Amino acid sequence: MFYGRRHGRRLRPRQAEYLARGMAAFGLPEDTSLTADGLDPRGFFDHAPDQMFLEIGFGGGEHLAARAEENPNAGYLGAEPFMNGVASLCRHLIERKITNTRIWPEDVRLLLPGFQKASFDGVFVLFPDPWPKTRHQDRRIIQPLMLDELARLIRPGGELLLASDEPKAKTWMMEQMMRRDDFTWTAGRARDWRTPPAGWPGTRYMAKADREGRVSNWFLFKRI
Ligand SMILES: C[S@@+](CC[C@H](N)C(=O)[O-])C[C@H]1O[C@@H](n2cnc3c(N)ncnc32)[C@H](O)[C@@H]1O
Repeated sequence: MFYGRRHGRRLRPRQAEYLARGMAAFGLPEDTSLTADGLDPRGFFDHAPDQMFLEIGFGGGEHLAARAEENPNAGYLGAEPFMNGVASLCRHLIERKITNTRIWPEDVRLLLPGFQKASFDGVFVLFPDPWPKTRHQDRRIIQPLMLDELARLIRPGGELLLASDEPKAKTWMMEQMMRRDDFTWTAGRARDWRTPPAGWPGTRYMAKADREGRVSNWFLFKRI
């Protein structure tokens, strides 16, 4: 069950045009999730990506577009069911002529099982919906089954970057991660989780957290 929003404010004609053009150029075919397992995400691209990254819940796509732009030889895949966010990413990709990104405008959990083992060099889950109430904890995206899937999909030595500004969500994510023997936390000192990674472009949710005085943290894990 997906509990987030799929639609926000009605798209203006220009946004709708970006969405239509962007999905025609960068959208994954609708039946991708039905493909027999063993799908290689590098096959979505013409340029044989040297690295492959996945962003889960890219929101407005600020981070995904910036990473794809600075790393043109890699391939990026973003999943986001909120269509206003998808339209925003499409605008970034089209205006900045970024071609190494593919979009899954749906729940990422429908897509992941189809990919072959070790498909990704890195996965980003940035400022996921916190669902801070205990009775909603099953709705949080970081769950044991999701981490089993990500452990299967991230190659040994590959990375999982989690970020949040919400205290309960931070604690939850760290509790889940600390139980794992297939990921190791890379932090050696407090500065490592208090400072964003190099070249951090920001995200819409982080900007909101900054404005509202919440502290953001970044937790970088390596697949063993
Ligand atoms: C709080 S927003 C953060 C967006 C963005 N990462 C940022 O930092 O601005 C969380 C996003 O995750 C998306 N999301 C939630 N569940 C998801 C799922 N199962 N698959 C893909 N995206 C999901 C939501 O639609 C929402 O846009």
